[in-house]
Amino acid sequence: MFLKLAVIATLCCTNALANFTSYEGYKVYEFTAENTTQQKTLENLAQNNAYDFFTLPRIFGLPIRVLVAPADQLQFQQTLETSQIAYTTVNENFGQSVEVERKLNSMYPKQRNSAPGSISFNVYQRYDAITAYLEELSKTYSSRVKVTSIGDSYEKRQLHAITITNGDGVANKNVILMDAGIHAREWIAPAAALYVIQQLVENYEQNSHLLANYDWIIVPLINPDGYEYSHTRDRLWRKTRKPVTIFCDGTDGNRNFDFHWGEIATSSHACASTFSGSSAFSEPETQALRDLMHSLSGRAKFYLSLHSFGNYLLYPWGYTSELPENWRDIDDIARAGATAIKTATGTDYTVGSTSNVLYPASGGSLDYALAKAKIPVPMVMELPSAGQQFDPPLSKIEELAFETWIGIKAIAEKIIEKYKLVDEEN
Ligand SMILES: *[C@@H]1O[C@H](CO)[C@@H](O)[C@H](O)[C@H]1NC(C)=O
Ligand SMILES: *[C@@H]1O[C@H](CO)[C@@H](O)[C@H](O)[C@H]1NC(C)=O
Ligand SMILES: [Zn+2]
Repeated sequence: MFLKLAVIATLCCTNALANFTSYEGYKVYEFTAENTTQQKTLENLAQNNAYDFFTLPRIFGLPIRVLVAPADQLQFQQTLETSQIAYTTVNENFGQSVEVERKLNSMYPKQRNSAPGSISFNVYQRYDAITAYLEELSKTYSSRVKVTSIGDSYEKRQLHAITITNGDGVANKNVILMDAGIHAREWIAPAAALYVIQQLVENYEQNSHLLANYDWIIVPLINPDGYEYSHTRDRLWRKTRKPVTIFCDGTDGNRNFDFHWGEIATSSHACASTFSGSSAFSEPETQALRDLMHSLSGRAKFYLSLHSFGNYLLYPWGYTSELPENWRDIDDIARAGATAIKTATGTDYTVGSTSNVLYPASGGSLDYALAKAKIPVPMVMELPSAGQQFDPPLSKIEELAFETWIGIKAIAEKIIEKYKLVDEEN
């Protein structure tokens, strides 16, 4: 999610003896803003570091979720009541849910493979398992799959990109570029990226039309340090892991890109979860993604960054409420994805520009892709929460990943059709 201005819990609440940040007694509240007055009240509340707003959409009536520590709950509830904002408590003890999830997820430490060279979606896979899967694919399908490292994370994990082709050897085809996991805690995003990889590689026969004139380049885990940390130390960790000050680590990768960097809905405080970095592209992970984008200049037609949560298909701009010149094209393409999902599963996605439907935010990879890397159709997809914020139950992973794939496939088909027409006109 985009908006979390709260100071990271490591500062206030980590028990030095336990390795896991405890969210014991934290509650998750849900409510909606029904008019401008209420929206203003909530935007003001979001400035308070004590409240972790998981979502704060700009469209009235869409659900808003906030995590609040025990000591702040009374005052928070009173503020809502004063503003006549009706709320429900959707999680009475977030800490307990985190514990249950962690235990379940770790019950399958060795169950990555349903069969060698495949991957299962009954668990949130860790970095090592994801890496092993990619490497196995590159061996098993060596004519169609290549895995490269586009750089190292701060903690020296390789950042893997998988290039998927149809194996015909034609160079310089158009490219569909995807990444996931720039926000560490959004676990469903890398899972969905793996599902896309599986479909394009292992289920090639059914999807070969998507690879006829396009290569797909996918970075399923662009922030592995943060991702691992969210598994082992703090479930709500969002940023990278490079230290900033002696007290605070990490930069919000999706505020670290050099386009209107540091302007809006981003923080210059190292401890904040939306910290934009000590400078633009201060992080090795964002540098690697930047370089990948530029290396595909002219070839990449579509860039998709997977996030969660909230069922949004977003396009530029984040830094301003104005729209890019080609917004009608992007909107049309995004709606093809939303419609396909609606038809298949009934799930609703909201389509629009980041700043208009969600919240303004600058320094994101989405804006950078369009403005600087000149990728004509960039999008962010905020995947569903299954009612559980960043923690869709393990039993829902595959279902959500499949649904996401339906949307991505429809979008890709639309892109392919669109650029075929453009090429024929030229
Ligand atoms: C915390 O983690 C460290 C290193 O990862 C480990 O050595 C230590 O035993 C852990 N402590 C607890 C209480 O789990
Ligand atoms: C906004 O909605 C609340 C709750 O329904 C209501 O009490 C309040 O008067 C509304 N304010 C405006 C300006 O419409
Ligand atoms: Zn995100």
